[in-house]
Amino acid sequence: MIKFIKSTDILNIRNIVLRDSKLTPDECRFPTDEIDGAFHLGYYDGDTLATVVSLHPQNYGEHVENGYQLRGMATLAKYRGKGFGKLIVDYAVNYLQQKQADYIWCNARKVASKFYQDSGFEIISDEFEIKGIGPHYVMRRKL
Ligand SMILES: CC(C)(COP(=O)(O)OP(=O)(O)OC[C@H]1O[C@@H](n2cnc3c(N)ncnc32)[C@H](O)[C@@H]1OP(=O)(O)O)[C@@H](O)C(=O)NCCC(=O)NCCS
Repeated sequence: MIKFIKSTDILNIRNIVLRDSKLTPDECRFPTDEIDGAFHLGYYDGDTLATVVSLHPQNYGEHVENGYQLRGMATLAKYRGKGFGKLIVDYAVNYLQQKQADYIWCNARKVASKFYQDSGFEIISDEFEIKGIGPHYVMRRKL
């Protein structure tokens, strides 16, 4: 089941999945977590929060339409490949379509680019490196 959740509920998964448990949950906050229009989704498998994602209003580059940035996409290892990630992205897409948003973009890890492509995102940048994490692309899904 997908729910809107508080940013503080997702810090633990962010740390485990995206930071190799090397930080404190507090250090996994994004400066954008609480800005106007930001929202956070969680997929619960029973009582377990298995997948999280965060979005906030933010345009990319010269795209001046009503854009949202997607961040912190993470599924606990044990729950990967079950479709939770696709479901939660589809949910965000539907929600933002209703809000008349124009596109979602993200800095996608190269290893996750197929995942985003399967959800309708396309690569719109050259490959670039984020220090300590690895190669990325900017990917965008028009709504
Ligand atoms: C990328 C990620 C969020 C996908 O979540 P998920 O819940 O496994 O997604 P789904 O089950 O909907 O899988 C959809 C696609 O993801 C990809 N995928 C599945 N398991 C994966 C894994 N272990 N690693 C990378 N990609 C995987 C596959 O392309 C899959 O497509 P398929 O069903 O045709 O094989 C998840 O693998 C993850 O948390 N990875 C580590 C963190 C990460 O890279 N986050 C993205 C940061 S940009």
